[in-house]
Amino acid sequence: MKNQSHKILGLGILIAGIILLMSAAPKPSANNMTTMNPPVKDSTEELKAQALKVLETRCNVCHKKKNPFMLFKEKNMEKRAEKINKMVFITGRMPKGDTPLTQKEYDTLKNWINSLNLN
Ligand code: HEC
Repeated sequence: MKNQSHKILGLGILIAGIILLMSAAPKPSANNMTTMNPPVKDSTEELKAQALKVLETRCNVCHKKKNPFMLFKEKNMEKRAEKINKMVFITGRMPKGDTPLTQKEYDTLKNWINSLNLN
């Protein structure tokens, strides 16, 4: 038991170190994050799958409790992309609560939304 938690702690420190190193890297432009992403697989399907994972793990957990019709699914996420964009990137109202998305999760959602060419 004790041994286990040491391992987890060590892993946590390692990950924190990696994140620190990555965030110390110079950012070419302040506001245009999409240009500096690591090359994500250039297929809409792949972007969508990654975005769905963020929606499922970071948004549905809470939405599920409020209203089962508010769940994001593969079938409805495109129809809701505009709302997601508004709530997450324009008004910043989502995700509600005190667990903000990581930069990577924001980038994933943004890349997917950009790939849809909404206006
Ligand atoms: C801690 C709870 C919680 C989390 C986490 C959360 N939401 Fe919500 N969300 C709500 C609640 C409650 C509402 C409805 C009331 C409101 O609009 O504030 C809502 C409403 C919304 C709506 C508007 C629904 C509609 O049909 O108009 C969108 C879009 C949305 N959330 C997107 C997201 C996205 C995207 C995430 C994840 C990045 C997210 N939410 C995470 C609680 C949450």
